[in-house]
Amino acid sequence: MLRKVSAVVLGGVLVAAALAACGGQERGGGSGTGSGAGKDDGQIVMGFSQVGAESGWRTANTKSIQESAEAAGIKLQFSDAQQKQENQIKAIRSFISQKVDIIAFSPVVESGWDTVLKEAKDAGIPVILTDRAVDSPDKTLYKTFIGSDFVVEGQKAGEWVKQEFASASGPVNMVELQGNTGAAPAIDRKEGFASVIGSDPKFKMLASQPGDFTRVKGKEVMEAFLRANPDIDLLYAHNDDMGLGAIEAIEAAGKKPGTDIKIVTVDAVKDGMQALADGKINFIVECSPLLGPQLMDLAKKVVAGETVPERVLTEETTFTQEQAKSALPDRKY
Ligand code: AHR
Repeated sequence: MLRKVSAVVLGGVLVAAALAACGGQERGGGSGTGSGAGKDDGQIVMGFSQVGAESGWRTANTKSIQESAEAAGIKLQFSDAQQKQENQIKAIRSFISQKVDIIAFSPVVESGWDTVLKEAKDAGIPVILTDRAVDSPDKTLYKTFIGSDFVVEGQKAGEWVKQEFASASGPVNMVELQGNTGAAPAIDRKEGFASVIGSDPKFKMLASQPGDFTRVKGKEVMEAFLRANPDIDLLYAHNDDMGLGAIEAIEAAGKKPGTDIKIVTVDAVKDGMQALADGKINFIVECSPLLGPQLMDLAKKVVAGETVPERVLTEETTFTQEQAKSALPDRKY
């Protein structure tokens, strides 16, 4: 009998020791598991899933998030999805199993997030959307969404085009380089532009195709546009990088970007602003990537259980060629 009791006690001690060892590993184990480190020393741990590194905008956005996390004393678990939704879903699931304090992400596409967001909600981990929205009807799946109004950006581009070609009798032959298929900025910038231009029969959209927000694809698609359409008057590119790739294609075709073919883009990153100041782009609608400081403030509030606004809108402007020349020396990204 005594032997039986001792065996049970010893067994219990061993199980307790094993559990303690597991817990210790999870907390301390330098394999990138954030929660442990954060919960031990009171530091907030944020799991962040980034879209990729497709553009100058994205590079500036990543830098802003990493620097702001450090300045705010937030431990960042950063994951690059390389423009693939399945990688983002994997990253979010890994953040959930690490029990981070908060998850933030910029969704590569708008649809298909409900299941994984529900998993985060069930695990009691709050989510913040940054830069891009999801189309989920259940708004309780995330706490807030911080970023630009992409429809308004498209409208601003359209308004400039209308004004620029106000005295032209037409037709004004246009081509459009869209962002990656299914992404909120691609859908919304297209819609915003069309809502302004669409009602005027003078404007003809000859071709509109995805250039995935990259310079390489922007160049490739513009080459195809130029081969198929000898008389293009205007290019609308959903970001600077695709516009910059298209400039290379236009020059290689023996045409002058900004003169033979007018160009309007979105973002206003340094390279885009330089091309604008050099007369190769005609107008840029700004989209600010500097979301880091506001994101960290919101994260602290959410973790503290404070109420935050459902939508935090980024303030933005537009640039003409002259305005780009004066803004360039102080441009941070
Ligand atoms: O979601 C923001 C967009 O994504 C930027 O305008 C574009 O450059 C980036 O790739």
